[in-house]
Amino acid sequence: MENTEKKIIYSAVQPSGNLTIGNYAGAIRNWVAMQEEYECFYAIANMHAITVRQDPAELRRRTLEMAALYLACGIDPQKCALYVQSQVPQHAELMWVLNCSTYVGEMQRMTQFKDKSQKHADNINMGLMDYPVLMAADILLYQAHCVPVGVDQKQHVEIARDIAIRFNNRYGETFRVPEPVILKTGAKIMSLQEPTKKMSKSDENVNASIFLCDDRDTVIRKFKRAVTDSDNEVRMAEDKAGISNLISIYSSFTGKSVQDTEREFSGKGYGEFKLAVGEAVADKLAPVQAEQKRLLADKKYLGEVLASGAERAFKAARRTLSKVYRKVGFYQGE
Ligand code: TRP
Repeated sequence: MENTEKKIIYSAVQPSGNLTIGNYAGAIRNWVAMQEEYECFYAIANMHAITVRQDPAELRRRTLEMAALYLACGIDPQKCALYVQSQVPQHAELMWVLNCSTYVGEMQRMTQFKDKSQKHADNINMGLMDYPVLMAADILLYQAHCVPVGVDQKQHVEIARDIAIRFNNRYGETFRVPEPVILKTGAKIMSLQEPTKKMSKSDENVNASIFLCDDRDTVIRKFKRAVTDSDNEVRMAEDKAGISNLISIYSSFTGKSVQDTEREFSGKGYGEFKLAVGEAVADKLAPVQAEQKRLLADKKYLGEVLASGAERAFKAARRTLSKVYRKVGFYQGE
């Protein structure tokens, strides 16, 4: 018998900051791979983004840039729903109901809330505290089985589970309780300047990270300056963090194994290897950047893709919200 019941995946990304090749190797490639097997809902979480101050014009621009980037990386709008969170009103609507099943104390104890309250001490707004409830609404609306996230978001998926279980206990079976799937986001891609530290989009040293928007010369220059050891042997080893990182980047971007890479560069120096890594990464990024640029120049098409994604999400979200309203006793007309 044909199995028509695909598992549902939900994930979202905030339209903030510049993504690095670590994000690409982790989250983005994963989203692309999962669309083949699962029913995927992927959102650009612009509602989460305004929990910290944003420049409105920039937020709008980055929302489109992020959508174009994901499409350029291979997200297929025929296969999954790619949409902008604020275009599906049920997220905010369900959040309100879930707020009434969430305790202030548990929100105050969330790690990210505590961190961000410190970092943005002049702007500890209600949205910042409610962030996990909005995220729970995102996930629960789609009855998601699995939620792929970086390890920093695991606590949020756990609270979404708690809220779902609590609601189900109070009102009867309503939500599927989602499972977090922890992505090794960029786990293998380390800073080029401090190779024992993860490559990060917010590193103050711009030479430490390769951004997806870096041009060819920049990519090659950054790899040339990457910190390595002095024995000049292209070999993966624990005490050779810098060169090991470059080997795994090369292997990840060319599809060649670590062994083959070591063999290819045996007897050759670091200079030659660094150039090869830079070229391999630049070669991979070039078509993505070109496609992103092409999409951004075609706002009509981009708008249509996002509208159809929102339409698909809307239909699924409406089903859940209507069930929720019935359970809590909201009048929904005759
Ligand atoms: N908070 C997530 C992040 O910053 C983004 C996000 C919003 C999300 N809603 C979500 C992730 C729902 C998974 C599921 O990375």
